[in-house]
Amino acid sequence: MTGWIDVCAADEVPEGGTLLVHAQGERICLYELGGQVFATHDRCTHASASLADGFITEDGAIECPIHMGTFDIRTGKALTAPCTIDLRTYPVRVVDGRVQVGL
Ligand code: FES
Repeated sequence: MTGWIDVCAADEVPEGGTLLVHAQGERICLYELGGQVFATHDRCTHASASLADGFITEDGAIECPIHMGTFDIRTGKALTAPCTIDLRTYPVRVVDGRVQVGL
């Protein structure tokens, strides 16, 4: 990790939802889960769909909008077919109401 990048205000991340942000040329998907913000790469490792257009399941996974494979939002682990390659995750912190992602 080279540093913390400010990506948005914390209240821009919808409760129980996703937000696509860009930082240093990367597409990053933010997720709000139980009052915490998590971040993964936005592109599904199966066929590059934008996970920001996906759906968060009750057990904290993101379901891809194209072929409905799932990943654990907290760890990036690929959970269900056709996804087999884990997602990259990023550390997140909230400072003075701003979301910062570690890149
Ligand atoms: S593009 Fe995400 S499961 Fe196929």
